[in-house]
Amino acid sequence: MVLEHRYPALKYLKPAAKRRIPHFVWEYLDSATGDERTKAHNRRSLDSVHFMPAILKGEVEASTQTNLLGQSYDLPFGVAPVGMSGAIWPDAEGILARNAYRQNLPYCLSTVACQTPETIGPYVGENGWFQLYPPRDPEVRLDMINRVKSAGFKTLVLTVDIPVASRRERQTRGGITQPPVLTSRLLAQIALRPAWALGMAAFGRPEMPLVASYGKNIRGLPTTEHIGYLLRVAPDLEYVKWLRDHWEGAFIIKGVLNASDCTSLEEIGIDALWISNHAGRQFDAAPATIDVLSDFRATTSLPLIIDGGFETGLDILRAFALGADFVMMGRAWHYALAALGRAGPAHLSEMLRQDLLANMGQLGLSSVSEASKTLLS
Ligand SMILES: Cc1cc2nc3c(=O)[nH]c(=O)nc-3n(C[C@H](O)[C@H](O)[C@H](O)COP(=O)(O)O)c2cc1C
Repeated sequence: MVLEHRYPALKYLKPAAKRRIPHFVWEYLDSATGDERTKAHNRRSLDSVHFMPAILKGEVEASTQTNLLGQSYDLPFGVAPVGMSGAIWPDAEGILARNAYRQNLPYCLSTVACQTPETIGPYVGENGWFQLYPPRDPEVRLDMINRVKSAGFKTLVLTVDIPVASRRERQTRGGITQPPVLTSRLLAQIALRPAWALGMAAFGRPEMPLVASYGKNIRGLPTTEHIGYLLRVAPDLEYVKWLRDHWEGAFIIKGVLNASDCTSLEEIGIDALWISNHAGRQFDAAPATIDVLSDFRATTSLPLIIDGGFETGLDILRAFALGADFVMMGRAWHYALAALGRAGPAHLSEMLRQDLLANMGQLGLSSVSEASKTLLS
């Protein structure tokens, strides 16, 4: 059966993904923190955005082409940074980066990815963004951003919504420890998922090569901790200023939820804001991202990127209707990868494109930027 018939929406890929990856990997990918209320809230609030369908518009030619930060993308959505992406599916970073280049959409590589900026940069060309977890040591910081720049990344994303680690209880129950240890329990879970296990054996054990390369810069700290956390600091506005002064390309702050933070960030010269509650993985009583979007739109003229539970073309239209300039997705790409391997990301982008066009047709829209006209308040 062709993919479109078997998996016409993301909701059909999720159970297939769960069947193909070990339980602890599924828990890493799918879980949030606490009772997972923020994750559910993202979904509920997206569902509460409605439109008035249009009639008697005649033939309307719809385009999904979207501009952001001086670049034209064929689709209004992209790939959010996912740490240890390559542990979810072998070579996830490479597959997602190549797909992003082919489909002309952005791919954001995480600081704690399983492949380095030097490896991924050439695959993704102009469409590569790099996400930074803020290194404490200024030497490491400078070296890292210089490496990222030399690898061809022109857009830097600073994630600011992890001042401390979160508890993620489901992950813990799934058997994930910090630092990760392959216990006999995890090995038993792996034995039940041969496609994943064989892929990992062929591609190599997932690690975090970028942060690991700075292991020698961490002094006086316990070696038993997760290296990604040892390296990073909770940033403040001075930190953001420092980065602005040292990074010439586009600079995005990821993890904003309060529109009152716009003014200070605008003064520093940020190029775009990324509204995110880290998919409910950090704090379980945060607002849904779609619910704060209008406040941001009313407060700033900076481009607004949003994520948090987006799963369909209709969801993406909801964000544009409320003032977003771009949508990013994290888990969705990984459900697709886990379910379908290499074919997953291209299938997901095509499915979302078709869903966008179908819904734009119902609303008589020729571009996603017109979506607010049909919004029901
Ligand atoms: C498994 C997983 C790992 C993540 N790792 C990172 C990361 O390394 N850096 C980061 O800024 N955000 C990270 N995020 C958050 C995503 O970038 C994004 O904000 C979120 O996944 C969007 O919600 P969605 O998954 O519902 O699309 C991660 C999310 C998931 C699900």
